[in-house]
Amino acid sequence: MHTRANIVLIGFMGTGKSSVGRCLAQRLGLQLVDMDTLIESRQQKPISRIFEEDGEPHFRVLERALAQELAGQSGLVISTGGGIVLNPDNVSDFARSGLVVCLQASPEIILQRVGHETHRPLLATGDKLGRIRELLGKRQALYDAVPHQVDTNALTPDQVADQIVALYNQRAR
Ligand code: S3P
Repeated sequence: MHTRANIVLIGFMGTGKSSVGRCLAQRLGLQLVDMDTLIESRQQKPISRIFEEDGEPHFRVLERALAQELAGQSGLVISTGGGIVLNPDNVSDFARSGLVVCLQASPEIILQRVGHETHRPLLATGDKLGRIRELLGKRQALYDAVPHQVDTNALTPDQVADQIVALYNQRAR
């Protein structure tokens, strides 16, 4: 049997990587890997505690190692963490392993989706919208550089998945 390309979801927090990843894995019969969840289970602590106790640079080292490991596998739907683009090697390794898609959303929509949550250390601040704008400002060019983009502002996870399934099937032909 031939190996199936990975699908790698990239994008800022709250752009829908985890929920779209679940839809895609189910629809295509691929295995879902959520990088943050896997890092948490291997480290046996939540991302917020990894940031607090070990620091963000240590988290980035763990994230980089896992990106290399997963890029060597096939048949996966990989939901990355929002900061995966900070190391361009992550994106180029993933691009060699399959279809990389960047999900985008406006700061206001991102706030609606994640504003009530408490587990994201980078958004643990009073002015969440300001923080989202600041981080997006620093990273926007990195997200925009990914060749395949889906604007998720007005779409459900299933509708986003429709677009990605179409791209994936085109690629397989
Ligand atoms: C981060 C995003 C988070 C998580 C960590 C850092 C970021 O993932 O990896 O808190 O730098 O944007 P999600 O995008 O799944 O929230």
